[in-house]
Amino acid sequence: MLTGRRILLGVSGGVAAFKVAYLARRLIERGAQVRAIMTSSAGEFLGAQTLAAITGTAPYEDFFGGESVSPHTELARWADLIVIAPATAATMARLANGLSDDLLSATVLAFTGPVVVAPAMHTEMWESPATQRNVSLLNADGVHLVGPESGPLAGGDEGPGRMSEPEPIVDRIEALLGGGSMAGTRVLVSAGGTREPIDPVRYLGNRSSGKMGTAVAVEAAARGAAVTLVTTADLPVSDSIDVVQVETADEMAEAVWKLAGGVDVAVLVAAVADFKPQDRADTTLRRASGPPDLKMVPTPDILAGVASQENPPFLVGFAAETGSVEQAAEKASSKGVDLLVANDVTLPDSGFGVDTNQVTIIRPNGASDGWPVMRKRQVAARLWDLIAEERAST
Ligand SMILES: Cc1cc2nc3c(=O)[nH]c(=O)nc-3n(C[C@H](O)[C@H](O)[C@H](O)COP(=O)(O)O)c2cc1C
Repeated sequence: MLTGRRILLGVSGGVAAFKVAYLARRLIERGAQVRAIMTSSAGEFLGAQTLAAITGTAPYEDFFGGESVSPHTELARWADLIVIAPATAATMARLANGLSDDLLSATVLAFTGPVVVAPAMHTEMWESPATQRNVSLLNADGVHLVGPESGPLAGGDEGPGRMSEPEPIVDRIEALLGGGSMAGTRVLVSAGGTREPIDPVRYLGNRSSGKMGTAVAVEAAARGAAVTLVTTADLPVSDSIDVVQVETADEMAEAVWKLAGGVDVAVLVAAVADFKPQDRADTTLRRASGPPDLKMVPTPDILAGVASQENPPFLVGFAAETGSVEQAAEKASSKGVDLLVANDVTLPDSGFGVDTNQVTIIRPNGASDGWPVMRKRQVAARLWDLIAEERAST
């Protein structure tokens, strides 16, 4: 959360300025106070009135003519963090070279706290030697660059230069400002659904998207934890998270068991296959050969494997249930977990693929607590609050 944190949002003149309305909203939703500076070109791409309506304060646009005698020094003293999104090539050049010929660059020059820059421009501009020189200078000055991503650009082009989405920018801001309530805590999270190959192109899988586990990892990183995410999914996460990409239950077991001994908390969210085909064909199965006779064998029990380690971390398991979460209570007592998070994946706002979840927390003694439907990121935040309480009380 960013409760009470003061964030100055600098908007420069690129097409991606339309995303900044969402960024401002996300920051405010997370409790921040937001003021904005728009460069003179930014007004061509985003209405000042839009930002005024979202932030509750008219954006600052010039040194002169406003109420403040010295807006750049006043804003630099006000802010806990400055984020510039989108950052044009021109604005990055100003910052890299210490120019202060507009209100935004002068405010950054007068500011001593963290500066986050989200570049957005066409691929040729981004890859030009001049921009890359400026990127190196900004990195050397300790500016935090988020993105750019590779993807569709204005005018139908495609390639590196696309501004990062608001979420990774907010995540980086939280990691820098979040108060670090989990600083020093080492965390392991598993996410996604495993895929068990039948032949070189086919597999047995499940519907897990990896969104819940990724939200758990991202929230921990935003609170300052050192996070390793073992995942089958390919969802965006902040650069500070160590990602270990796996595909099968065996690969996930190997990675999780190896890493679990070195962490304080393991939250195993991944939907892991219980069975896998015993054999994997070397060449694709042919229709003409008729239906395959798949013999299934059990996969490793990852949760039980972590629980039985010599010094297990605080262990949280997720259980996907269909129709009732009662069976999960049995699992909570038998698997050696500290907490079990059960969700009924058949409910419309819960489980696989959707952005919300309705979970029930079950303790090893069977006591349970049903939480309301929340966004997965909110479930993750409440879960980390609970884990902190439980660890403090043991
Ligand atoms: C339609 C249009 C789109 C533009 N998009 C970008 C952009 O995405 N990134 C960029 O660096 N410059 C872009 N420019 C050029 C900037 O607007 C121009 O360099 C301007 O001087 C930037 O000023 P500022 O950094 O002070 O806002 C665009 C220009 C036009 C006309």
